Amino acid sequence: MTAHPWPLLDGIAYGGDYNPEQWSRDVWDEDVALMRKAGVNLVSVGIFSWAMLEPREGEFDFSWLDELLDLLHANGVAVDLGTPTAAPPAWFYATYPDARVVTADGTVLGFGSRGMVSHSAPEYRTAIARVAGELARRYAEHPAVVLWHVHNEYGAPVSDDFSPRAVAAWREWLRERYGSLDALNAAWGTAFWGQVVREWDHVVAPAATASIANPSTKLDWARFTDEQLRACFRIERDAIRAHATQPVTTNFMAHQNYNTDLWRWAQEVDVVSDDHYLWSPDPDAHVGLALSADLTRSVAGGRPWMLMEHSTSAVNWQGRNIAKRPGEMHRNAFTHLGRGADAIMFFQWRASRSGAEKFHSAMLPHAGASSRVFREVVDLGARLAAVEELRGTQVRADVAVLYDWESLWAQDLEWRPSDALGFRERVRAYYERLWRDGVTVDLAHPEHDLSRYRLVVAPASYLLTQAAAANLTAYVEAGGTLLVSCFSGVVDEHDAVHVGGFGAPLRTALGVAVEEFLPMREGETCAVDLDGTEVTADVWTEDVVLHGAEVRGTYRGGPADGMPAVTRHRHGQGTGWYVSTALGVDALAPVLRGVYADAGVVPPGHPEGLEVVTRQGGTADFHVVVNHRAEPAELAASGTELLSGAPVDGTFRVGPGDVAVIRTPRAQGGGR
Ligand code: GLA
Repeated sequence: MTAHPWPLLDGIAYGGDYNPEQWSRDVWDEDVALMRKAGVNLVSVGIFSWAMLEPREGEFDFSWLDELLDLLHANGVAVDLGTPTAAPPAWFYATYPDARVVTADGTVLGFGSRGMVSHSAPEYRTAIARVAGELARRYAEHPAVVLWHVHNEYGAPVSDDFSPRAVAAWREWLRERYGSLDALNAAWGTAFWGQVVREWDHVVAPAATASIANPSTKLDWARFTDEQLRACFRIERDAIRAHATQPVTTNFMAHQNYNTDLWRWAQEVDVVSDDHYLWSPDPDAHVGLALSADLTRSVAGGRPWMLMEHSTSAVNWQGRNIAKRPGEMHRNAFTHLGRGADAIMFFQWRASRSGAEKFHSAMLPHAGASSRVFREVVDLGARLAAVEELRGTQVRADVAVLYDWESLWAQDLEWRPSDALGFRERVRAYYERLWRDGVTVDLAHPEHDLSRYRLVVAPASYLLTQAAAANLTAYVEAGGTLLVSCFSGVVDEHDAVHVGGFGAPLRTALGVAVEEFLPMREGETCAVDLDGTEVTADVWTEDVVLHGAEVRGTYRGGPADGMPAVTRHRHGQGTGWYVSTALGVDALAPVLRGVYADAGVVPPGHPEGLEVVTRQGGTADFHVVVNHRAEPAELAASGTELLSGAPVDGTFRVGPGDVAVIRTPRAQGGGR
């Protein structure tokens, strides 16, 4: 087994963001006493403290942080030390007004909230290198510091920047990427609408335009913006590494983020960490949580990762901020844990009295230590201590769902066949079907080595390079089962339609061609006849032409009446399935039954709503059980339930809304 990504801390990390600069010194003593009570062993400090650390440019005041780190260390609480660069101080904005972000409509964003200034501005880059370097120099040897936390949630709250600094950097980036204007004009297809550029200075950023901007330009702009953010991360990381040896992380936002390609970001960090908040309008938000956790584990390459932030109860930034009910925080935490997290952290330790987040829940709420939330926080700390054996164990999946930020960026642009069909919505539908069937999945990039998976699902993989399509075709040839959804393999890396038509690069693997997209009006539905089982489809249908595939489902009604809706194609040693419409989670069930049979995937047959994910250790399997149901549930298992210490002999019963971790020694056989 390779070394753990954060070796300086034992057990499961437990704690949250800690912002004591908002409180008087006497409160710190109460904080550390209550942290000990709750079993907190790690806090993230200093994330928004630039104004306190560097009160004037180049003048540093570390006295309060010295005292704080010593206090935490004396109380057995380790520190994930933040660099404060997501909230530049007032002096920065006043001294460097040209480094401010400009939005697409020309608004200049100034001081008074948070969010960094222009990530392309040399002044900002100099300032972040200085403050990160000074922090690292001072605290490299501090025994409390086990991890560095660079910045905060790159890409939020702003990522697009149309300032003159950014536009200059954009032109440089394009020169590097394309070498010549001829190559750029070809890639962007600028013959359309006469958008040919003949001078580098004439290349514009895709800010506000009269009609829609060139989509190829916008796709490159998304890549550029992502790379500018990553360049800022690297500057800070390298400034830290010049002095310190502790691992470096930055908190991602996996499935909730839009602007950062986490396959690339994960290559840059020592530790993958993620923030996740339930999306209140979604009654099944715990499924989205599981997806986010699986995505985080996958970008981490299967290695242990940190849940850097979630909430004990309500957030404050959604329209209706729904409080978590008793037990829900435990279920959320154990889902992350089951899906590979070795750290369960929150935003934040103590609720802020002032500022934008005073209505956000915390580990220690405004109601104080005699509250339901704090009691659950103490209980969670004890439970995590009881399952510390999970640390370093790994989740293995037989199924992969493809996930590609570049495809997301390209697909979300304007003027597509139907704005009702989206990448994330399709990913969620397929993921949720697999979740309900109890099938654990990884997320994967279409160009990854997929050979270890029995089944690969490609939901709305709109942008698919020739290399990715060849990878998927080879996967099928070698015996894999591939399930592709509508609106896949449509464009190349420049957002140009593939030569040969929609889906052309997948034709060999799937045995079909898509002649025309046939989206439906709002509210319109049609039926799909799956060998006698009728399911309902909406939003999208296609005119699919067979090139060797067999028909497994036929449209009844709608614009594609009588045409193939679901097809199956034997190619080489494997099988390629195609679903040309946007089936919902229930309608996907009968389709997936056939797909599982081809792939040799056997769903465990747990009652729906009982989530069981297995982490494999050297000598034992750990089944992390989360019961989302209002009734008790049973599963076949044997070994020991770690939270209670009770033996399990054949059948385990988990109470309504409860969680459990069952250790099954390998020699005794599995519990799935
Ligand atoms: C994000 C930020 C935190 C805080 C939380 C609130 O995750 O990183 O600083 O604002 O949201 O939910």
